[in-house]
Amino acid sequence: MNLVMSEKMVVEKSEKLVAVKGMNDILPPDSARWEWLEDKVRSLMGLYAYRNIRTPIIESTALFVRGTGETTDIVEKEMYSFEDKLNGELLTLRPENTPGVVRASIEHNLTYEGGKRLYYMGPMFRHERPQRGRYRQFYQLGAEALGFAGPEVDVELMLLVHQLFANIGLRNVRVELNSLGVPSERQTHRAALIGYFEKHLELLDGEALRRLHTNPLRILDTKNPTMQALVQEAPQLLSFLGDASLQHFETVKTLLSACGVRWRVNPRLVRGLDYYSHTVFEFLTDELGAQGALCGGGRYDGLFELLGGKPTPAVGWGMGLERVLELIKQQGQEPVALNPDAYAVIAIAAAMPLAMKALQALRAAGVSVQQNAAAVPGFASMKSQFKKADASGARYALIFGSDELAQNYVTIKALRDRGGEQITRSLDGIATWATTLQLHP
Ligand code: HAM
Repeated sequence: MNLVMSEKMVVEKSEKLVAVKGMNDILPPDSARWEWLEDKVRSLMGLYAYRNIRTPIIESTALFVRGTGETTDIVEKEMYSFEDKLNGELLTLRPENTPGVVRASIEHNLTYEGGKRLYYMGPMFRHERPQRGRYRQFYQLGAEALGFAGPEVDVELMLLVHQLFANIGLRNVRVELNSLGVPSERQTHRAALIGYFEKHLELLDGEALRRLHTNPLRILDTKNPTMQALVQEAPQLLSFLGDASLQHFETVKTLLSACGVRWRVNPRLVRGLDYYSHTVFEFLTDELGAQGALCGGGRYDGLFELLGGKPTPAVGWGMGLERVLELIKQQGQEPVALNPDAYAVIAIAAAMPLAMKALQALRAAGVSVQQNAAAVPGFASMKSQFKKADASGARYALIFGSDELAQNYVTIKALRDRGGEQITRSLDGIATWATTLQLHP
């Protein structure tokens, strides 16, 4: 980007600088929920042998135009695209990461020795109208299985989501499925669909008319109430599928049921991205208003070729983490506690070296300790330090004063229970007693 400031970029000194609309700061204590969720994700991904992939946030614009699809909402109107004025390249902040993962896989020949199971977590950018659950920068968790053709991998990916939601205690999430078959089946269906809608042109809204010859499948997705009856009666792609596609879909359904996942076929589920074939699915909730899609994905067997790679079957999903966290909150789960185990009260400057060394040893032994610190240089009164110790939520105060310094010990005061009991412990043997202070040993 051009780093020379244009007149427009010069900011009045008095102007208040705030975050870009639709892009949120994630602050403590809320950020603790994010970390908690990310930890759950990492351990679950390990159990399914999915490995982490990190691709750049900026990719060439052409990747999304070709990969996500020219006639999708994302490419038509939601991308943050710009020209790198240093070299004229056309770049885009990633609106989704499936094309990026496929690009990386082709570039590094990731599937050379066989299939790869990958996952990522990170920000995506879409210039949509911000509202609850819909942001311009949002975080997606995604999983992509590259190089596997069988329906069992479609199911494995859905089981991952199902298991993650169970592990974090989400309730009332439903699973909708559909099959989009293969390109030749979609072509025949497309012709039938256009023929059907052309017979009812007077019932189509502007958006549908615009899509009629570019992306008629997406008309089935319409939210317009006056078109519902029309799309209900429209030819269904499922009835255009051949034996192989039907067999793939049947196996997905059978395996899901065998694993205890309840699903429903929604013949109008078409997804908003162009690359899908065979299975598509969404995990939905009714408890978040209009933005009820928590996770969506499907098979994209043609994308590697479209992006210049060898034919490689693939399947994956993306999940909006803001929506998942919002639902957790809405369903009344307690926030994650951020309390340290102990709070260090330091009475005199001379005790500081001894205290800080002791705190390091405690942390090395796994005890979380918050050290008192004042807004101005100097030492706050013991009363004020104890007030902060209380407010921190710590279970113990660790006191370092002149007696402690003289005799090399620390006084440990219980703040929450045991009637404020005080004990002393030698600083020589920290490792032997440290873990007794841990809240979660
Ligand atoms: P997607 O359906 O566009 O699919 O997005 C996946 C999920 O990201 C949505 O279900 C939603 O939870 C979340 N999401 C999307 N847009 C926003 C937004 N503006 N604000 C908050 N959350 C949002 C994909 O992106 C595909 N790459 C999924 C995939 C992976 N398919 C195959 N592999």
